[in-house]
Amino acid sequence: MTAQLNPRGDVAVLVPAAGAGVRLGPGRPKALRLLAGEPLLVHAVRRLAAAASVHTIVVAAPIAEVAAVRELLAPIAPVTVVPGGAERQESVAAALAAVPVGPDIVLVHDAARALTPPALVESVAAAVRSGHDAVIPVLPMVDTIKEVDADELVLGTVDRRALRAVQTPQGFRRSVLAAAHAAAGDALTDDAGLVEKQGVPVFCVPGSDHALKITRPFDLALAEHLLATGLRTRTLNS
Ligand code: CTP
Ligand code: MG
Repeated sequence: MTAQLNPRGDVAVLVPAAGAGVRLGPGRPKALRLLAGEPLLVHAVRRLAAAASVHTIVVAAPIAEVAAVRELLAPIAPVTVVPGGAERQESVAAALAAVPVGPDIVLVHDAARALTPPALVESVAAAVRSGHDAVIPVLPMVDTIKEVDADELVLGTVDRRALRAVQTPQGFRRSVLAAAHAAAGDALTDDAGLVEKQGVPVFCVPGSDHALKITRPFDLALAEHLLATGLRTRTLNS
């Protein structure tokens, strides 16, 4: 059944989904690869549409797949699909340009984080609503982190208590994200990085292990397992 979005919601979600998925190995663009029989993008959009504040979803699709992605998502939720760009940042900018007048909060969410719980979408949006102009979901580092030189010789041990691994959705006051993209120079892999360059404070909220980014075949196998066990695996903050 097609999900309804919330016409009174204050959140637009941009979904960059135009990447090739080179690290996943040969095959279709990553957003269209199957996880438990359905494309990653379908999993991601279904969970976004289940978040109560979401008013608009804009997907940036691979240029050659725009029509196919429209058809694929039509039964899932009312979604706008635009052609993405050569870099993630260009895909985000293309999606941002398609957001209608209305939503004051914009979330940017990787299609590759296909199992992200709707509750995480809501907690990021709530932090923006409460007054933070830029919000990122993060997890603590679990491994010991070393800094090395070009010859793989250890330079030192980094204090991991001050480090965080960053996920999506990243949330922004709409005007703040628009200004950061308008001023953007070099391509960055995350939108909070653009906003940081503008001097805007970025606030962290607890992320979710289920918001893992499916990057390599191992991640896909892990996601298959998580789905097969009904996402019941107890993990931190999920
Ligand atoms: N993305 C995008 N446009 C690009 C590059 C990436 O919309 N030109 C999207 C991807 O589709 C993905 C998200 O940005 O949902 C995070 O990127 P990543 O995980 O690196 O995906 P890919 O770029 O597809 O993977 P790879 O780097 O292995 O090719
Ligand atoms: Mg990439």
